[in-house]
Amino acid sequence: MGSYTPSGPECDLLITNGVIVSASDLIYPPASDIAIKNGKILCIGSLQGLFSAQKVVDADGAYVTPGGVDTHVHLDQHINGALGDNFENGTRSAIAGGTTSVITFAFQQKTEESVLPVVEAYHKKAAGLSYCDYSFHMILTNPTKTIVEEELPILVEQGITSVKLYMTYDPIKLRDRQILDIMLATRALGMTTMIHAENSDMIDLVIEQLYAQKKGDPYYHAISRPKVAEDEATYRAISLAQLMDTPILLVHISSAVAAAHIRKAQTKLLPIHAETCPQYLYLLKDGLRASEHDPFSGAKCVCSPPLRDSQADLDALWEGIANGTFTTVSSDHCPFSYNHPLGKQLGMATGESRFTDIPNGLPGVETRVPLLYKGVQDGKITIQKYVEVASTNPARLYGLSTKGTIAAGYDADLCVWYPDAKFESFELQNDMLNHSIDYTPFEGVKFGNWPRYTISRGQVVWDRDGGGVVGTKSHGKFVKRIKNGLKQPRGRFENEWIPEYKGRIPAKPAAAAPELAKAKEATAAGGVGVVNGV
Ligand SMILES: *[C@@H]1O[C@H](CO)[C@@H](O)[C@H](O)[C@H]1NC(C)=O
Ligand SMILES: *[C@@H]1O[C@H](CO)[C@@H](O)[C@H](O)[C@H]1NC(C)=O
Ligand SMILES: *[C@@H]1O[C@H](CO)[C@@H](O)[C@H](O)[C@H]1NC(C)=O
Ligand SMILES: [Zn+2]
Repeated sequence: MGSYTPSGPECDLLITNGVIVSASDLIYPPASDIAIKNGKILCIGSLQGLFSAQKVVDADGAYVTPGGVDTHVHLDQHINGALGDNFENGTRSAIAGGTTSVITFAFQQKTEESVLPVVEAYHKKAAGLSYCDYSFHMILTNPTKTIVEEELPILVEQGITSVKLYMTYDPIKLRDRQILDIMLATRALGMTTMIHAENSDMIDLVIEQLYAQKKGDPYYHAISRPKVAEDEATYRAISLAQLMDTPILLVHISSAVAAAHIRKAQTKLLPIHAETCPQYLYLLKDGLRASEHDPFSGAKCVCSPPLRDSQADLDALWEGIANGTFTTVSSDHCPFSYNHPLGKQLGMATGESRFTDIPNGLPGVETRVPLLYKGVQDGKITIQKYVEVASTNPARLYGLSTKGTIAAGYDADLCVWYPDAKFESFELQNDMLNHSIDYTPFEGVKFGNWPRYTISRGQVVWDRDGGGVVGTKSHGKFVKRIKNGLKQPRGRFENEWIPEYKGRIPAKPAAAAPELAKAKEATAAGGVGVVNGV
């Protein structure tokens, strides 16, 4: 990094000598300089000598990719244990791993009759505590008529254009009929409908059997949620979406059998999208077995759906990314500390291991981007495919309209890598990470690159060789999202009977200009800044 002062118009930051990657293309030097002003990409081209710049980042021939967009991140959410990361430590971890936007989850408890106060309370948990930009999904657990017809339109107006539904977990799961009713609304409103698909009753039965046989060790978590439970629920979710002619996004798909249903539906032009996560690309259920010194250590790898059986499972999912079955890859960051009475140790609270008491989830917001880039180095995917599933598609699917690609006018959210040949590979240890969790399930994985700089709206927020996290927790802003993220060409599906949605269809979200002015006022007054998604 240095300064650089030719004549010409001034920009805030000039990135030189990189290879810019988009979801389809590569732009090589000398045509690949990026001029950034006021947080936006001003232009791209052979710009040295044309612009003067406050600051220059020399990308040294390495890839410059859009900042990571992680659309499945649990932060400061009350789940079945005490989540280890709030917005502060979770987003610090995000930028240290090349991610510049996260979408986290506002969570409706079954007893809550309105979701509007839920969103309001969640805004307070994030405001002023985020190192990167953020938005929220709404987890619906009790979709009353009022919520579906009167409150979802308000959420859309507030720029919250996605809901997440669970087919499993007793306290929060929805019946098929409830899912259908919500689909009618999200279809009309252009909201993205995310579904966690596992068959709840199958899993309950297996759990009962395992406990009757005194099998409570962490390993049995993997046994208790067999592939067939994901297989059935994925197929059912696709069928529900087909009946309602509503696009859906199946989250954290872990098995080839479920992926095959998705692939088949897509070839019929049904509007089915799917996500997988790095844990299903790198980790196996053997990780849930006792280690030599600690019979409970497998708890560190307890997540749902569980890690699967063999290398063939991992290979099938990589293939599903390469061949376009998976539209997006996110972390499902849902971190619980291991040595913590309200973390993974909850599974030992009775003195013996009960795998159903172990909070579900893994830390991963910091490792997602580097693990996907590793897939490029290992020959699993191309660098363009990396950009597509790590940044561009997640931004498009969820309506982050100013994020996810490197083009003039877009937010200057970037990740600058090292030239592969100059990078000294290393094996990951937890203390190299910036999360506040006491372990990483990816301990020992060998990395041949890592984000060198992370740039969020034109600010260098992570400088790996120059101080690490150099951003601040007041930098990140709530981003309003546009709707219709899942819209796609219509297949041959025809349906003449879909009842009319009785709720209100909101107008387009407010125009960008007044919204930005408001954001400036709000920030000056110490309130929640808002960057409009349009
Ligand atoms: C995350 O940061 C908060 C402070 O903002 C802290 O209270 C909490 O303990 C941190 N989490 C962990 C697991 O250290
Ligand atoms: C693409 O990947 C999916 C998921 O692994 C798989 O089901 C499918 O057979 C693959 N190939 C084609 C041509 O669909
Ligand atoms: C963040 O990561 C850097 C580089 O690995 C490390 O040196 C530093 O200790 C980490 N900081 C925190 C707060 O974890
Ligand atoms: Zn999740």
